[in-house]
Order: sequence, then structure tokens, then C-alpha cells
Amino acid sequence: MHKITLINGDGIGPEISNAVVDIIKASGLDIDWDIQTAGADVIETEGTPLPQRVLDSIKRNKVALKAPVTTPIGKGFRSVNVQLRKDLDLYANLRPCKNLPNVKTRFDNVDIIVVRENTEDLYAGVERQVDADKAESIKIITRKASNRICRFAFDYAVKNGRKEVCCVTKANIMKLSDGLFLDTYRNVAKDYPQIKQREILVDNLCMQLVQNPSQFDVLVLPNLYGDIVSDLCAGLIGGLGVAQGANIGLDYAVFEPVHGSAPDIKGQNKANPTALLLSAIEMLKYIGEDFYAEKIEKALYKTLESGICTPDLGGNATTTEFSKSIINIL
Ligand code: NAI
Repeated sequence: MHKITLINGDGIGPEISNAVVDIIKASGLDIDWDIQTAGADVIETEGTPLPQRVLDSIKRNKVALKAPVTTPIGKGFRSVNVQLRKDLDLYANLRPCKNLPNVKTRFDNVDIIVVRENTEDLYAGVERQVDADKAESIKIITRKASNRICRFAFDYAVKNGRKEVCCVTKANIMKLSDGLFLDTYRNVAKDYPQIKQREILVDNLCMQLVQNPSQFDVLVLPNLYGDIVSDLCAGLIGGLGVAQGANIGLDYAVFEPVHGSAPDIKGQNKANPTALLLSAIEMLKYIGEDFYAEKIEKALYKTLESGICTPDLGGNATTTEFSKSIINIL
């Protein structure tokens, strides 16, 4: 039996994670959940939103499913998400963006995998105040980090039957840093002759994405472009309630939705569990449980096709009614 860390979060976290745990159970797959509390609710008792026991649990189990946690503002706490990425060296941020049945958006046939480098670029935090009127941020790109993220993107493409990996940069202007990323991509691509190569500048990509998104397959990007483009792609498929994500490293992986803890709808039984459920489906594929991943995905699609959905998608189903419908199909 798989043992997996479950961070059930705060805000709407517990509501949607209970729904997802029940759905996975109904699929017939037995998972031994190692439940770990984190976030705002544990600060008072443990003095930090991310106690060491949570990290220890992920290190033991290697895989975690994470519901959102609130980042306290102005109290000097590092974001739990940033800390997890750093401490576990989760270098790849994976964001599959695919249309769902009955979720109305501007485009059909969007099926894009965004692979974002998660550890360097302008996020390395190398900034300085030169004087009162001048500040500098250093963009760091290394061959090592570029190599592993490009390899990750190509490996993902091969494993998931994808046809093309497109490298996104601004190498015409940042000739050294983005140039290094692009050069590394070209070298890695040589090892994957079965996958089509494509190169695009990030500004052109943004225009193409809002005009004709279905031309794109897998995108691989340095950290900052990846951050912005992955939110753009989430918007293409219906927004926060359906946007899934994962942070993956060589040793560990944490699967989580893109959205936050939604304190405005906490405890009202109307949160959409789809983003966390899609993250869990991706997690099941990652641990080799493709059969159950597909079974749950089909049940989710059938529920959406039948018109049952939560208020964020224009429906009137509660979190419980929505998940019960998936469970009944399973
Ligand atoms: P948010 O994503 O929590 O909410 C934005 C809006 O989307 C709200 O109106 C909310 O009701 C709605 N929404 C979000 N998820 C939904 C769902 N599953 N179903 C239905 N409606 C949903 O963003 P916000 O308000 O900026 O952040 C709240 C807290 O969450 C903050 O403390 C923030 O730091 C934290 N956060 C945590 C993340 C994580 O743990 N990965 C990611 C983003 C934010």
C-alpha cells in the first residue's frame, strides 16, 4: 500500500482534501495517508506554519498531496510553499492545463503542459539597493538547473505521449542568461529525436496563447516566464477552481492546486475540489497508479458532463454533492 503525506491545509483546505480522500477511496485504491497539519492553524501551538515534522513526513514518504495553506502577512514567516520547494529541492513546477467538459472558456482543445524551472532566475533572491534611487535584481541561470528542467520536460513528453517540447525565452535580448537556457535545451533535445523541437520568444508566445492556444503541447520555461505563463494558461481553461499543479524534484514530489485557501468561502461547503482532485490524479500517475488515475478522471468528467458543478463554475452543487456524484459513478 502507498503511504503518502497529506497536508490538509487551512481555509477551504480540509473541505476539499476530505472530498478528494473520499473519492480516491471510492475508486478502490487503498492509500495510507500520513496526515500532517500545517499553515495558520499550527502557528500558535508550534510557532511556525511549517513544522519540521511535515518535512520529515514528506522525506519519509517521498510524495505529498497538499491542500492550500494561508501565508500570514507581515509576521516574518516565509511562505510554506517557497520553503517546501527550497528544502526538498523541488526543481520542476508542472502545470497541466486542459479543457474540462462543460467548463465554458474562450477556446476548446486547450491541452498544454507548462514546465517551469522552480529554483533560480530572478527568484534566486539576489537583490541589492544600490542607492536610494536604484535597485538591482540579478537573474541567475545555470546550465545545471536548465539541463535538469529541460530533461524533465522531454522525459514527461515521452512518458505521456506528447509530440513537441517548445522552449520559451527572451534570448534575443538576454543573450547570455536566456541564451544559456536555450543552448542547454538544444543540447538536451538531441537525446529525444522522437519529440519535435520548437523555440519561441515569450512575448510572441503570450500573443499566440490568447489567439490560438491549441497549437502548443509542452512548454519549458525559466522561472519568471513560467510563473506568468502558467497563470495565463490556467485562465484559458477556467481559472483557479480547476487549475492543478505539482512541484517535483529528484527525490520528492508535492502535488497541489494553484489556488489559495479561499478564506472568503471557508466552511460554506461550496469550494470546488476539482483542482486538488486533478492534482491528486497527476500524483497517482506519478506513483504508477495510472489505472486509478484514469478511472477517477473519467468519473470527474462524467459528473461535469452531467451539468453538476460548484458555484465558481456557475452551478449550485455543494462540495459534498459534487464529490458524492463522482463517488456514485466510481
Ligand atoms: P485564493 O486562491 O485563496 O482565492 C482567490 C479567489 O478564488 C477567492 O474568491 C476564492 O473564493 C476563489 N477560489 C479559490 N479557490 C477556489 C476553489 N477551489 N473553489 C471555489 N473558489 C475558489 O487567493 P487569495 O485570496 O489571494 O489567497 C488566500 C490565502 O491563500 C493567502 O494567505 C495566500 O497566501 C494563500 N495561498 C496559498 C497557496 C498555496 O497554499 N499553494 C497558493 C496561493 C495563495
